[in-house]
Amino acid sequence: MAQQQPQTGPAGATGHPDGPASAPDLPPRVATVYGAYDLATVPAFAGGFINFGYWAGLGDLTGRPLTEADRVRSEQDLYRLVLGTFDGVRGHSALEAGCGRGLGCALALREFGLDPVIGLDAHPDQIARARAAHVQLLAGGAGGSGRLTFVLGSAQRMPLPRETFDCLYSVEAVQHFRAPAAFAREAARVLRPGGRLALTTFFARTPAAARELPGLLPPYADGLDVPHVIDEFAGTLAAAGLRDVMVRPIGEAVWEPYDRYMAQQPELADDEWPRRYLTAYQAGLLDYYLLTAVR
Ligand SMILES: C[S@@+](CC[C@H](N)C(=O)[O-])C[C@H]1O[C@@H](n2cnc3c(N)ncnc32)[C@H](O)[C@@H]1O
Repeated sequence: MAQQQPQTGPAGATGHPDGPASAPDLPPRVATVYGAYDLATVPAFAGGFINFGYWAGLGDLTGRPLTEADRVRSEQDLYRLVLGTFDGVRGHSALEAGCGRGLGCALALREFGLDPVIGLDAHPDQIARARAAHVQLLAGGAGGSGRLTFVLGSAQRMPLPRETFDCLYSVEAVQHFRAPAAFAREAARVLRPGGRLALTTFFARTPAAARELPGLLPPYADGLDVPHVIDEFAGTLAAAGLRDVMVRPIGEAVWEPYDRYMAQQPELADDEWPRRYLTAYQAGLLDYYLLTAVR
């Protein structure tokens, strides 16, 4: 069990792709999308989460419209899928990499008993939104319960001490990382021996698919996302010293219902590209994956 609170470190050395540890130098598109644009507020997402969702727990969806409540539930369930890979972790410490507005951190506290929880995000606006949304749970603040802290910093250069966390998880953030090997090394550094990693997001299935995807999906072409290849990414986890790396495709419970939800959004009628994720999945170019590993 871990109770040590991480400290935000001094600005790191210059020359790293993410700049100083406490003030990441974000790729321009990432800075815009999670800054002024505030991706959580667009119709594709709901409830403050920003992920495609895991829909297997919603029962039989055929023959009925998908509601906003379904969409929120799918996004929460993606967190439940990831956090459910940790067992026997009540009262253990956790770090979320790419926490967005921090709703998954609150869910980890509330439903899984992880405590304390640190949410790390590279965008200052996301950290500000997360702190504003969870005042009651914040460590150190007036009325804060001390169980939750939000830290500004890159997952590729974590401003956190070594061997601090029992669990590290991440939901739909790795696609933004320019240096996944740096993330893997940082994960191995901040986890305690025996600590567990669980993460989920979408990856290219092969190197050839990674070359093809920017022609199909604008977020790859405009620099928001990077088409990391699943086997290569799993290899970086192992190369960083993490063991028992497991990869599970979960796209069957992601892409089709997400596409149905998108098809219902009138705001997206003139904007068909978001529906190309299902096309890319069906063409065998990309999939959504759950990865686990042990330090
Ligand atoms: C798609 S959102 C997912 C947010 C949240 N996990 C969820 O599911 O609602 C990706 C998040 O990763 C953050 N991010 C992007 N690059 C990052 C990096 N290098 N290190 C940490 N966070 C990063 C973004 O600021 C954004 O909040």
